Amino acid sequence: MSLNVWGYLDEYANEREELLQAVDAVFSSGRLVLGESVRGFETEFAAYHGIAHCVGLDNGTNAVQLTLESLGIGAGDEVITVANTAAPTIIAIVGSGATPVFVDVLADSCLMDTGQVESAITPRTKALLPVHLYGQCVDMAPLRGIARAHGLAIVEDCAQAHGARQHGRPAGTMSDAAAFSFYPTKVLGAYGDGGGVLTGDDAVAAKLRRLRYYGMEDEYYVVHTPAHNSRLDEVQAEILRRKLGRLDGYIADRRAVARRYEEGLRDVPGLQLPRTVPGNDHVFYVYVVRHPRRDHILAQLRRHGINLNVSYPWPVHTMTGFAHLGYRKGALPVTEALADSVFSLPMYPTLKKDDQDRVIEAVRNAAAVAL
Ligand SMILES: Cc1ncc(COP(=O)(O)O)c(C=O)c1O
Repeated sequence: MSLNVWGYLDEYANEREELLQAVDAVFSSGRLVLGESVRGFETEFAAYHGIAHCVGLDNGTNAVQLTLESLGIGAGDEVITVANTAAPTIIAIVGSGATPVFVDVLADSCLMDTGQVESAITPRTKALLPVHLYGQCVDMAPLRGIARAHGLAIVEDCAQAHGARQHGRPAGTMSDAAAFSFYPTKVLGAYGDGGGVLTGDDAVAAKLRRLRYYGMEDEYYVVHTPAHNSRLDEVQAEILRRKLGRLDGYIADRRAVARRYEEGLRDVPGLQLPRTVPGNDHVFYVYVVRHPRRDHILAQLRRHGINLNVSYPWPVHTMTGFAHLGYRKGALPVTEALADSVFSLPMYPTLKKDDQDRVIEAVRNAAAVAL
């Protein structure tokens, strides 16, 4: 039988009753947009992080874009980030009107090389946008120092890091505002699209609430600054509320799978396993390994019915859609080398031990032939 990359079908089988109750609760409430479920989720998600505000939005891309807009960032401004990320991070920056400026990532963690940030700052720089990729946090202390020294905002992209921590602090609480996606595959995923922003700043939260709702101020239909329709759906919010109570359990299960992969694969020649940076609590949104003959291994595993994901095969700065930014191949050597060698093993809380063993054995066999 073939093995999926993601686990939400298994999860649905386990949680079906509760999820259907959540849908029924919303349908029978008669309040289908910005009602009790969105408010409840916002309160509970903020409380989980020990921060003042969560603003529920329609997806993670808009969460990044509206966060930038809420901080007054737009046309003519530059935002320093990485190209080793999902394209929507960059789409959101471009969508705000600002220009993304890329620094490279570190070879061991695959995360933003904060040592390159200062030299990328120009008079137009307004914000730093670290992406907590794969499930662990970018080193935030140096970024916070740089932001303070240069008067810059920091926006965390937490789409892949729900529940991750750094020196005990939750991802999403180490910046001016932090964007989350609740896309179904995420560590906390909805059954459709969803997103949200955490912030400790009352004014930023108020601005986000206006931005997601046409730009309306107080009275209905009075728009001062035309904005978006970017509301979190009430049904998804109710589902997320129920799943939030299980988030720590999902993370514990993901870590158990990661430990097993580590035990089963650490001696495989040529295979590089993910490294948790000291001080980080990794949540393993994806389990990203590297091998110089990645494509050979992918082909072997697919022949055995094991479907794998690659995050990411094409660095954003080399995509034709971003050619106008002016980066050429070779500009970000670590990011580009990763694109040729990374792949992700199946990783989800419900992944059975037998299936983990099947993955381990298939990777060992493929790697033995590859070298
Ligand atoms: C790092 C990162 N940022 C932003 C997004 C965008 O989220 P969404 O798909 O909910 O718009 C994603 C989703 O894949 C992501 O992985």
